[in-house]
Amino acid sequence: MTAPVRISVEHVTKRFVSGAVTVFEGLDLAVRDGEALCILGPSGCGKTTLLRCMHGLAGIDGGRIVIDGVEVRAPSRKVAMVFQHFGLMPWKRVRENVAYGLELAGASKATIAERVDRYVRLVGLVGFEDAYPYALSGGMQQRVGLARALAVDPQVLLMDEPFGSLDALTRELLQDEFLRIYQEHPRTMVFITHSIDEAIALGDRVVVLSARPARVRDILVVDIPRPRTVASVIADPRFVELRDRCWRLLRKEASWA
Ligand SMILES: Nc1ncnc2c1ncn2[C@@H]1O[C@H](COP(=O)(O)OP(=O)(O)OP(=O)(O)O)[C@@H](O)[C@H]1O
Ligand SMILES: [Mg+2]
Repeated sequence: MTAPVRISVEHVTKRFVSGAVTVFEGLDLAVRDGEALCILGPSGCGKTTLLRCMHGLAGIDGGRIVIDGVEVRAPSRKVAMVFQHFGLMPWKRVRENVAYGLELAGASKATIAERVDRYVRLVGLVGFEDAYPYALSGGMQQRVGLARALAVDPQVLLMDEPFGSLDALTRELLQDEFLRIYQEHPRTMVFITHSIDEAIALGDRVVVLSARPARVRDILVVDIPRPRTVASVIADPRFVELRDRCWRLLRKEASWA
């Protein structure tokens, strides 16, 4: 039986600069309950904008976006977002940044303390709880953003290149950690990345977008069984085939290639 659709992007149009820039027009996309949908697309095609619209942080100029039957107009508590540029509050320490969403949700002090400890540990930032963002590397700041989103245990997770600024080793460790968390507790997720390998490793489906105005070029089903690790995905014979298909699609969209 197929899971019900939780996020529905219906014929959505988004423009900037008083209509001069069309980011996408008539875009349709559906994300099912518990599905990890990864999005690939050339730089500047509108991926971040799409995620911001899904979260209700940016308005749209046509169509509608519906989450759990309710049209998105403003950010909702059941949705958490990890931003491409971290989105941390510079005046708050690591533990306060991680606690932020939980405080907004009205969690008890004991719950906040327990969750903050757990997720700080998970992203490898023990010892930095009292540091301010300026004293962290880019990769560390990104991990704080990830911990903050995971700590609220959101029903829907929107992630904008969450591992983009990490070094290769940390990135693979976190991908594996993320696969493990997802296995234990699947949640509806939209995950933007520039890495074809990452999209295939983490996604149930991979959407390839065209250059701006973004259109859905293709949707690939990642029929690689879970539980997965990055290593098990790469070793799967389907991986090479899927990577090749994504690569061909993206190459066509890179106008300079
Ligand atoms: N606030 C804004 N005002 C005007 N134009 C904007 C704004 N935000 C984004 N744009 C434009 O919208 C287009 C899509 O930008 P967006 O950040 O969504 O791309 P992206 O696919 O996330 O790119 P990248 O892969 O580089 O992160 C770009 O042409 C960008 O210049
Ligand atoms: Mg972006």
